[in-house]
Amino acid sequence: MTAPATRSPAVPTAPAHRFTVNGRPVEVAAPGGRRLLDVLRLDLGLTGAKEGCGEGECGACSVLIDGAVVDACLVPVCQVEGREVRTVEGLATDDRLDPLQAAFLATGGVQCGICTPGMLMAGRAFVDTLAPGAAPTDAAIREAISGNLCRCTGYGRIVEAIRLAAEGAADGGAESVHAAVAAAAPAGADLPTAAPGAPDGSAVPVGRAGLLDLDDPPAITPRTLGEAYAFLAGGGWRPLAGGTDALVERAAGIPDPRGYLDLAALAELRAVRLEDGALVLGAATTYAALRREPLVAVHAPVLAEMAAQVGAAQIQGRGTLGGNLATASPAGDSLPVLLALDAEIVVGSARGERAIPAAAFFPSYRRTALAPDELILRVRVPLAPGRTVAFRKVGTRRAQAISVVVLAVAWRWGADAARGTWRDVRVALGSVAPTPIRARATEAALEGAPPTAEVAAVAAATLAAEIAPIDDVRSTAEYRRVVAGRILHRVVRDAGGW
Ligand SMILES: Cc1cc2nc3c(=O)[nH]c(=O)nc-3n(C[C@H](O)[C@H](O)[C@H](O)COP(=O)(O)OP(=O)(O)OC[C@H]3O[C@@H](n4cnc5c(N)ncnc54)[C@H](O)[C@@H]3O)c2cc1C
Ligand code: FES
Ligand code: FES
Repeated sequence: MTAPATRSPAVPTAPAHRFTVNGRPVEVAAPGGRRLLDVLRLDLGLTGAKEGCGEGECGACSVLIDGAVVDACLVPVCQVEGREVRTVEGLATDDRLDPLQAAFLATGGVQCGICTPGMLMAGRAFVDTLAPGAAPTDAAIREAISGNLCRCTGYGRIVEAIRLAAEGAADGGAESVHAAVAAAAPAGADLPTAAPGAPDGSAVPVGRAGLLDLDDPPAITPRTLGEAYAFLAGGGWRPLAGGTDALVERAAGIPDPRGYLDLAALAELRAVRLEDGALVLGAATTYAALRREPLVAVHAPVLAEMAAQVGAAQIQGRGTLGGNLATASPAGDSLPVLLALDAEIVVGSARGERAIPAAAFFPSYRRTALAPDELILRVRVPLAPGRTVAFRKVGTRRAQAISVVVLAVAWRWGADAARGTWRDVRVALGSVAPTPIRARATEAALEGAPPTAEVAAVAAATLAAEIAPIDDVRSTAEYRRVVAGRILHRVVRDAGGW
């Protein structure tokens, strides 16, 4: 199907972006590629969100967009159009601290305070999504703040504060939280009930954008695929989905050619559906969507399992499958999974659409089979009833970890006489070669075999010999070789139940 190309409209250098901040409408004239963090701090004077790393690692810049926590350093202002931004300045209301703020004070969850605005916003997003009456586990709270680093308080008190606020919310609102906080506070503690100096809304200046020349790139937001294709055919525009790779590259000084081609308005890139025997996932499907999408849970639950191990809440809410594929990092977590699922990547341009097998999508290090004028439109995962897929990721820590080794293994159980043996085995890995790979010799060692200890040992040894990892900043080749064998061994052991 060929989409009609349209003429590219002119791109204003500093268009007006309209959205609300803490309930107040604002209009900011700025290049669309300006970071939300700069708009908040420099244009609007809201300095609660802090700049720590500038690349999505520390969470100091966390704010909410439509209730979801994001790193404001990785969000271009063009993607905030029409949306509700909430910052730490908007937490306290009616001269009362937000229950979370009060709880942080009560538990001693604050020391230097650098991480605190971000922690509060991540905590707020978490508490707001709890079902009425639900009591969160410490593990759930730790996951919710795993994108936020604190170097001095220690996480125990922060977790305690969020739990306290969450329990208060479950009990029926702010009043009971304040009572709970008062009960938990040390005797004689003077608990503030007001937020001194908190802006009441009228203090938020509007339209001061453009005072600082930040050399931000422009952005265009096409409304149709035809329009997007026309910009791409004209050259120089870089597609932008969640920005969690593109804005990090920019922070590292890698310039964008002309500006961003913002994909946010192309609804077809977010659609998830069943079609012609396949689960079809739009390229702009986020990790958060993969985790909550019922069709994924039924037909390819391994994608939800993988998504849960990407970055942290801030990255999962914005990072997309298409961005992971186009970045083509050998450490990208979705890539081995898509190889193991035998997925196809459908790409499109003004010349039409074509489907590329995942196995042919990564020709060499950080290169893809995409032509410069093509967009990734969707991923097709063939439905395969009876397929089992295991996923293992080894990183340097639990959250925000780029994989040291990532492994996906797919198989189905043989029938009748072959019962108890593995069929159609696919073993795919990331971070062990310049591109994500299928381990064909290891697949051959497993094909038709039962998952016994002997088979596991042979397969692990075959894998260690088959891969060609390198030493880099995250790990050594030797460690990767050993770990790859071990995690495959465990997959076989778990399947065999021994
Ligand atoms: C703190 C942090 C932690 C991270 N953790 C992980 C992790 O655990 N595992 C992991 O795999 N990755 C991780 N990443 C990397 C990143 O989040 C993922 O690669 C993500 O999937 C990128 O998607 P995006 O939508 O943000 O891409 P963008 O940044 O928007 O785009 C990335 C690239 O893809 C191109 N692109 C995007 N969409 C399309 C499309 N539809 N068609 C053509 N080209 C397109 C862009 O032009 C750009 O070159 C992490 C990043 C950060 C900052
Ligand atoms: S400044 Fe560290 S995540 Fe944004
Ligand atoms: S309170 Fe100092 S970094 Fe968390």
